[in-house]
Amino acid sequence: MPFRARHLLGIETLAPYEIVTLLDLSDSYVDLNRSRAKHSDKLAGLTQINMFFENSTRTQASFEIAGKRLGADVMNMSMAASSIKKGETLIDTALTLNAMHPDLLVVRHPHSGAVDLLAQKVNCAVLNAGDGRHEHPTQALLDALTIRRAKGKLHRLNIAICGDIAHSRVARSNILLLGKMENRIRLIGPRTLMPSQVAELGVEVYEDMREGLNGVDVVMMLRLQRERMDGGFIPSEREYYHRYGLDPEKLAYAKPDAIVMHPGPMNRGVEIDGTLADDINRSVIQDQVEMGVAVRMAAMDLLAQNRATATPGVMV
Ligand code: NCD
Repeated sequence: MPFRARHLLGIETLAPYEIVTLLDLSDSYVDLNRSRAKHSDKLAGLTQINMFFENSTRTQASFEIAGKRLGADVMNMSMAASSIKKGETLIDTALTLNAMHPDLLVVRHPHSGAVDLLAQKVNCAVLNAGDGRHEHPTQALLDALTIRRAKGKLHRLNIAICGDIAHSRVARSNILLLGKMENRIRLIGPRTLMPSQVAELGVEVYEDMREGLNGVDVVMMLRLQRERMDGGFIPSEREYYHRYGLDPEKLAYAKPDAIVMHPGPMNRGVEIDGTLADDINRSVIQDQVEMGVAVRMAAMDLLAQNRATATPGVMV
């Protein structure tokens, strides 16, 4: 079985060959998405429910488009209007939805571990669309697909991940994925924004942007995740931009063909120069959005196939 997983909860439990299988299938969905009739019936008859307990633009829209293009019946739960507001627990809500026989449940939640917990309580395939600062697997997979298509490979690259690493599930999932594929990872940012166990991650750490960017193939920028900060992590946005904001002068330290990435939402003039973000010769930020739909189609397709072969009612 080239892809064994029954849920997509994180990169941590995926084997390198599962990642490659998923990316290869995603490539074929990129082609489908670029054609005029963007439809297949891979998920026909299946029900997909999207439960987003945190704000989202790209991730929610692309999961919805992905499901619709594959022919699933897609429902977006409005969590602001749900019974969660009346005090129902996450698990009760999940069990209620589970009784309606969904096949795919896409969940974003502010608490690390909440999506794993939920997956233990339902008998459909669960996809983690971001849980706290823990994991955001489809983001790391779409980043990997973007890198593989731009660089022609996904191994032995020097990749810099810059900014607010401590609060970022995007950084965590990317460190895991890019590490599994044998790349050299550098984390760049102020010490206050580095995770406490950074020494155990098998990465190089830099406090100076120019030093860290020297000779890299890929520059991945991150947003300052203020919603997860409970104090002063940076002196001021102005000072932060001066030291860590990516602009053409700092990018010049990277390889001449280095690509610039950002998961969005972007804060122009805080972590990245707006003109550079829009420069199609360097920035692949819009490609990342395009790859996001294809990767989510591939993930749901593979999980649905595994579900079809599973014993009814039993999910591992
Ligand atoms: C990221 C997220 O939600 O973790 N955004 C995304 O999914 N594209 C990153 C962020 O919020 O900064």
